Amino acid sequence: MPYFTYKENELYCEDVPLREIVEEFGTPLYVYSKNQILDNYRAVHAAFGETNHLVCYALKANSNIQLLKLLVQEGAGAEVVSKGELFLALKAGFPVEKIAHTGVGKRDDEIEYAIKKSVASLNVESEEELRIVSEIAQRLNREVPISIRANPNVDPETHPYISTGLKVNKFGIDHERVLDAYRHAKELPNLRLVGIHAHIGSQITRFEPFVQSVTKLVSLVQDLKAAGIELTHIDIGGGVGVDYHRALVHDLLPAELATSPATGGTSAAPPVASEFVKAVLAILQSTGCTVIFEPGRAIVADAGMLVTKVLYTKQSGGKKFVIVDAGINDLIRPSLYDAYHQIVPLILKGKETETVDVVGPICETGDFFALDRPLPTVARSDFLGIATAGAYGYSETSNYNGRLRPAEILVNGERCRVIRERETLDDLS
Ligand code: LLP
Repeated sequence: MPYFTYKENELYCEDVPLREIVEEFGTPLYVYSKNQILDNYRAVHAAFGETNHLVCYALKANSNIQLLKLLVQEGAGAEVVSKGELFLALKAGFPVEKIAHTGVGKRDDEIEYAIKKSVASLNVESEEELRIVSEIAQRLNREVPISIRANPNVDPETHPYISTGLKVNKFGIDHERVLDAYRHAKELPNLRLVGIHAHIGSQITRFEPFVQSVTKLVSLVQDLKAAGIELTHIDIGGGVGVDYHRALVHDLLPAELATSPATGGTSAAPPVASEFVKAVLAILQSTGCTVIFEPGRAIVADAGMLVTKVLYTKQSGGKKFVIVDAGINDLIRPSLYDAYHQIVPLILKGKETETVDVVGPICETGDFFALDRPLPTVARSDFLGIATAGAYGYSETSNYNGRLRPAEILVNGERCRVIRERETLDDLS
């Protein structure tokens, strides 16, 4: 059930009109629905049924500590990619035996920190890293649980910047060399081989690549078993996509054009995360391993909206521009990945629409949220919601152009609270 919805012509998050929230807290503003996050997590968790599993939320999607605490309470684990994320995960209360540490370029001090904190699995991405981890572990006199990240050479059919499982990508160890890497790792002191890992990319909208990656991982688990290396867990990564095109529907909104795979658009709604899980469960069960799944986007994307105010509208060069008070420093996805986000007025006033570029105030032509987009006609001081912005929104913000990061608000039913204050000028110096 979606928690950002129109009641009559006014957009709500759960039971609170968004207009009331922005009038109190200002714009640009990230607003999250607590119950959407809980529903998303619970659906994924439930999809595993009786299969031994751990859902390790990928912190990079959104690491606001109050959101992390919600997932801790649900019993989730965490996937972290740096010392900072591990620190945050521990601070939020994730039990260390539920934390997997990935990262293609871990510094020695990050490896040391992860070992000292006793993460459940250090996911290693090269043979050189195996050797370094072994050396650090010997120095610390600790045994380290290791998973090797395999690169299965599967095309996730997503934007090239977020494809990670192709041979040409920097991630993991070639599928063909994984067996040898385990044999080699077995000889290295202070390493305990516990698992295997793959993550082929993000915003995957079709089953096939995901199923292919899992199938290749399972065959490696079997080959390893035959070679005398028994693993206890199989980490299938994250990456399942969400529907960026159909978050909001209303008679007064222009019909969405949802056809470009590059922007996550398909003519039919893509499968949801629980369906991805169900599509691979039977394949995984044959291994007898605990399954680790690392969704980020699927847990938080549709639970967040970036609300912005129209500063100006202008006609120029044969185009109509809607200039808003959010910029790419607040949400970089449209500019960086050609990503599509629905943009909708908080109040729908009429049937009139026009085709516009929705742009921010930053001194770059790449500072846009939508180009040539049909939008209900808006004017100065109207508010717009940029939908499905809960994942890789705030976590990719910056102070570029001396801009202050927005505040974050969490809504639960009729209540809302600030979960991160808006930055002030003092934060810039
Ligand atoms: N596990 C690993 C090892 C990852 O690298 C990632 C994401 C995930 C799990 C979670 O993937 P998800 O379920 O969220 O797709 N900034 C880009 C997405 C980058 C994803 C990086 N890795 C975007 O805004 O589309």
